[in-house]
Amino acid sequence: MKKPVIAIDGYSSTGKSSISKVIADKLELIHLDTGALYRGITWYALQNCMDESGSINLENLFSSLPLIQLEFRNDGRELILHLNHKDISKEIRSNEVSDHVSLVAKQKEVRDFLLQYQRSLAEKGGIIMDGRDIGTVVLPNADFKFFLTASIDERTKRRYHELLSLGIEAEEQQVKENLIERDKIDSERDIAPLKQAEDAIVIDNTSLSKEETIESILSYIQKI
Ligand code: DC
Repeated sequence: MKKPVIAIDGYSSTGKSSISKVIADKLELIHLDTGALYRGITWYALQNCMDESGSINLENLFSSLPLIQLEFRNDGRELILHLNHKDISKEIRSNEVSDHVSLVAKQKEVRDFLLQYQRSLAEKGGIIMDGRDIGTVVLPNADFKFFLTASIDERTKRRYHELLSLGIEAEEQQVKENLIERDKIDSERDIAPLKQAEDAIVIDNTSLSKEETIESILSYIQKI
Protein backbone atom coordinates (compact mmCIF):
# COMPACT_ATOMS: atom_id res chain seq x y z
CA MET A 1 0.00 0.00 0.00
CA LYS A 2 1.32 3.46 -0.89
CA LYS A 3 2.09 5.51 2.19
CA PRO A 4 0.10 8.73 2.56
CA VAL A 5 1.10 12.32 2.01
CA ILE A 6 -0.14 14.44 4.92
CA ALA A 7 -0.22 18.25 5.11
CA ILE A 8 -0.41 19.99 8.49
CA ASP A 9 -0.83 23.75 8.44
CA GLY A 10 -1.79 26.25 11.09
CA TYR A 11 -0.81 29.07 13.38
CA SER A 12 2.54 29.34 15.14
CA SER A 13 2.90 27.23 18.28
CA THR A 14 -0.13 25.05 17.74
CA GLY A 15 2.23 22.09 18.06
CA LYS A 16 2.36 21.30 14.34
CA SER A 17 5.94 20.09 14.31
CA SER A 18 6.06 18.07 17.50
CA ILE A 19 2.70 16.47 16.66
CA SER A 20 3.81 15.69 13.10
CA LYS A 21 6.96 14.10 14.43
CA VAL A 22 5.02 11.65 16.62
CA ILE A 23 2.62 10.80 13.79
CA ALA A 24 5.59 10.24 11.47
CA ASP A 25 7.11 7.79 13.97
CA LYS A 26 3.83 5.93 14.41
CA LEU A 27 3.04 5.64 10.71
CA GLU A 28 6.67 5.30 9.57
CA LEU A 29 6.64 8.46 7.50
CA ILE A 30 9.29 11.11 6.93
CA HIS A 31 8.59 14.34 8.79
CA LEU A 32 9.51 17.66 7.25
CA ASP A 33 9.21 20.86 9.31
CA THR A 34 9.10 23.43 6.50
CA GLY A 35 9.28 26.37 8.92
CA ALA A 36 12.86 25.26 9.61
CA LEU A 37 13.72 25.98 5.95
CA TYR A 38 12.46 29.58 6.21
CA ARG A 39 14.28 29.93 9.50
CA GLY A 40 17.47 28.58 7.90
CA ILE A 41 17.37 31.19 5.13
CA THR A 42 16.70 33.88 7.74
CA TRP A 43 19.67 32.76 9.79
CA TYR A 44 21.86 32.92 6.67
CA ALA A 45 20.59 36.43 5.93
CA LEU A 46 21.35 37.58 9.48
CA GLN A 47 24.93 36.34 9.12
CA ASN A 48 25.62 37.47 5.58
CA CYS A 49 23.15 39.98 4.19
CA MET A 50 22.82 42.86 6.63
CA ASP A 51 22.99 46.53 5.68
CA GLU A 52 24.51 49.31 7.81
CA SER A 53 21.21 50.09 9.54
CA GLY A 54 20.98 46.54 10.87
CA SER A 55 18.21 45.39 8.50
CA ILE A 56 18.30 42.45 6.14
CA ASN A 57 19.26 43.59 2.65
CA LEU A 58 16.73 41.59 0.62
CA GLU A 59 18.38 42.16 -2.77
CA ASN A 60 21.61 40.85 -1.34
CA LEU A 61 19.76 37.83 0.05
CA PHE A 62 18.03 37.07 -3.27
CA SER A 63 21.32 37.11 -5.17
CA SER A 64 22.86 34.86 -2.48
CA LEU A 65 20.13 32.18 -2.68
CA PRO A 66 22.12 30.01 -5.14
CA LEU A 67 24.90 29.87 -2.54
CA ILE A 68 22.59 28.36 0.07
CA GLN A 69 22.46 24.61 0.32
CA LEU A 70 19.85 23.34 2.74
CA GLU A 71 19.78 19.69 3.65
CA PHE A 72 18.02 17.58 6.25
CA ARG A 73 20.33 14.89 7.64
CA ASN A 74 19.07 11.94 9.58
CA ASP A 75 21.02 11.50 12.80
CA GLY A 76 19.24 8.19 13.49
CA ARG A 77 16.59 9.84 15.63
CA GLU A 78 15.45 12.90 13.71
CA LEU A 79 16.12 15.10 10.71
CA ILE A 80 18.63 17.83 11.50
CA LEU A 81 18.78 20.91 9.30
CA HIS A 82 22.19 21.70 7.82
CA LEU A 83 23.01 24.86 5.92
CA ASN A 84 26.11 24.65 3.77
CA HIS A 85 27.09 21.54 5.79
CA LYS A 86 26.71 23.18 9.22
CA ASP A 87 24.17 21.96 11.77
CA ILE A 88 21.99 25.02 12.43
CA SER A 89 19.16 23.28 14.29
CA LYS A 90 19.67 25.30 17.48
CA GLU A 91 20.48 28.64 15.83
CA ILE A 92 17.21 28.70 13.88
CA ARG A 93 15.17 28.71 17.13
CA SER A 94 16.75 31.94 18.43
CA ASN A 95 14.63 35.05 19.09
CA GLU A 96 16.60 36.93 16.48
CA VAL A 97 15.56 34.46 13.79
CA SER A 98 11.95 34.42 15.07
CA ASP A 99 11.82 38.21 14.86
CA HIS A 100 12.90 38.31 11.19
CA VAL A 101 11.57 35.10 9.68
CA SER A 102 8.16 36.37 8.57
CA LEU A 103 9.74 39.17 6.56
CA VAL A 104 11.95 36.66 4.79
CA ALA A 105 9.14 34.12 4.34
CA LYS A 106 6.89 36.59 2.55
CA GLN A 107 9.38 37.17 -0.29
CA LYS A 108 8.44 35.55 -3.61
CA GLU A 109 12.10 34.81 -4.42
CA VAL A 110 12.50 32.88 -1.17
CA ARG A 111 9.24 30.97 -1.55
CA ASP A 112 10.03 30.01 -5.16
CA PHE A 113 13.48 28.87 -4.09
CA LEU A 114 12.01 26.49 -1.48
CA LEU A 115 8.91 25.30 -3.36
CA GLN A 116 10.54 22.77 -5.69
CA TYR A 117 12.71 21.40 -2.90
CA GLN A 118 9.66 20.75 -0.73
CA ARG A 119 7.69 19.14 -3.57
CA SER A 120 10.59 16.91 -4.59
CA LEU A 121 10.76 15.51 -1.06
CA ALA A 122 7.09 14.48 -1.26
CA GLU A 123 7.28 12.78 -4.67
CA LYS A 124 7.69 9.27 -3.29
CA GLY A 125 4.88 9.64 -0.75
CA GLY A 126 5.18 8.59 2.88
CA ILE A 127 5.68 12.08 4.23
CA ILE A 128 4.07 14.44 6.71
CA MET A 129 4.92 18.07 6.07
CA ASP A 130 4.02 20.91 8.38
CA GLY A 131 3.95 24.61 7.58
CA ARG A 132 1.60 27.38 6.50
CA ASP A 133 0.88 26.71 2.81
CA ILE A 134 1.37 22.96 2.50
CA GLY A 135 -2.29 22.05 1.87
CA THR A 136 -2.95 25.12 -0.27
CA VAL A 137 0.21 25.54 -2.39
CA VAL A 138 3.01 23.01 -1.83
CA LEU A 139 0.97 19.80 -1.82
CA PRO A 140 -2.58 20.65 -2.95
CA ASN A 141 -3.19 16.96 -3.73
CA ALA A 142 -2.14 15.68 -0.30
CA ASP A 143 -4.12 12.65 0.89
CA PHE A 144 -4.93 14.36 4.19
CA LYS A 145 -4.92 18.01 5.18
CA PHE A 146 -5.20 19.33 8.70
CA PHE A 147 -5.32 22.90 9.95
CA LEU A 148 -4.38 23.49 13.59
CA THR A 149 -5.44 26.48 15.62
CA ALA A 150 -5.47 27.48 19.33
CA SER A 151 -5.97 30.64 21.41
CA ILE A 152 -3.15 33.19 21.50
CA ASP A 153 -2.66 32.80 25.26
CA GLU A 154 -2.30 29.05 25.02
CA ARG A 155 0.12 29.36 22.12
CA THR A 156 2.18 31.95 24.00
CA LYS A 157 2.48 29.60 26.94
CA ARG A 158 3.63 26.77 24.69
CA ARG A 159 6.25 28.85 22.83
CA TYR A 160 7.54 30.34 26.08
CA HIS A 161 8.11 26.90 27.59
CA GLU A 162 9.67 25.63 24.36
CA LEU A 163 12.18 28.50 24.43
CA LEU A 164 13.00 27.87 28.10
CA SER A 165 13.55 24.19 27.40
CA LEU A 166 16.00 25.16 24.66
CA GLY A 167 17.86 27.37 27.15
CA ILE A 168 16.77 30.55 25.31
CA GLU A 169 15.84 33.50 27.55
CA ALA A 170 12.44 34.98 26.87
CA GLU A 171 9.72 37.19 28.31
CA GLU A 172 6.15 36.00 27.98
CA GLN A 173 4.81 39.34 26.77
CA GLN A 174 7.48 39.57 24.09
CA VAL A 175 6.78 36.01 22.98
CA LYS A 176 3.09 36.88 22.65
CA GLU A 177 3.77 40.00 20.61
CA ASN A 178 6.10 38.09 18.32
CA LEU A 179 3.41 35.42 17.71
CA ILE A 180 0.72 38.02 16.96
CA GLU A 181 3.01 39.91 14.63
CA ARG A 182 4.10 36.75 12.79
CA ASP A 183 0.53 35.47 12.40
CA LYS A 184 -0.45 38.83 10.95
CA ILE A 185 2.38 38.95 8.41
CA ASP A 186 1.93 35.26 7.51
CA SER A 187 -1.86 35.63 7.00
CA GLU A 188 -1.77 38.91 5.12
CA ARG A 189 1.10 38.34 2.71
CA ASP A 190 0.32 38.22 -1.03
CA ILE A 191 2.03 34.95 -1.85
CA ALA A 192 0.95 31.67 -0.28
CA PRO A 193 -0.58 33.24 2.86
CA LEU A 194 -1.39 31.21 5.93
CA LYS A 195 -4.93 30.01 5.37
CA GLN A 196 -6.88 26.88 5.74
CA ALA A 197 -7.34 24.78 2.58
CA GLU A 198 -11.02 24.35 1.72
CA ASP A 199 -10.71 20.60 2.15
CA ALA A 200 -8.68 20.72 5.39
CA ILE A 201 -9.90 19.27 8.65
CA VAL A 202 -9.73 22.03 11.30
CA ILE A 203 -8.62 21.13 14.82
CA ASP A 204 -8.73 23.73 17.61
CA ASN A 205 -6.41 22.29 20.25
CA THR A 206 -6.64 25.11 22.84
CA SER A 207 -7.89 22.66 25.43
CA LEU A 208 -6.48 19.48 23.96
CA SER A 209 -3.21 17.96 25.07
CA LYS A 210 -0.60 17.03 22.51
CA GLU A 211 -1.64 13.36 22.84
CA GLU A 212 -5.33 14.21 22.32
CA THR A 213 -4.51 16.21 19.20
CA ILE A 214 -2.49 13.28 17.85
CA GLU A 215 -5.36 10.87 18.59
CA SER A 216 -7.77 13.14 16.78
CA ILE A 217 -5.57 13.35 13.67
CA LEU A 218 -4.93 9.59 13.68
CA SER A 219 -8.66 8.89 13.95
CA TYR A 220 -9.16 10.56 10.55
CA ILE A 221 -6.17 8.88 8.92
CA GLN A 222 -6.97 5.43 10.20
CA LYS A 223 -10.65 5.66 9.30
CA ILE A 224 -9.99 4.62 5.71
O1 DC B 1 6.59 27.09 12.01
P1 DC B 1 7.65 28.13 12.31
O2 DC B 1 7.29 29.08 13.40
O3 DC B 1 9.00 27.53 12.51
O4 DC B 1 7.72 29.00 10.96
C1 DC B 1 8.62 30.06 10.82
C2 DC B 1 8.08 31.09 9.85
O5 DC B 1 8.14 30.59 8.53
C3 DC B 1 6.65 31.55 10.09
O6 DC B 1 6.62 32.90 10.46
C4 DC B 1 5.95 31.39 8.78
C5 DC B 1 6.96 30.87 7.82
N1 DC B 1 6.51 29.68 7.10
C6 DC B 1 5.90 29.85 5.90
O7 DC B 1 5.68 30.99 5.48
N2 DC B 1 5.52 28.77 5.17
C7 DC B 1 5.72 27.53 5.63
N3 DC B 1 5.35 26.48 4.89
C8 DC B 1 6.34 27.34 6.89
C9 DC B 1 6.71 28.43 7.62
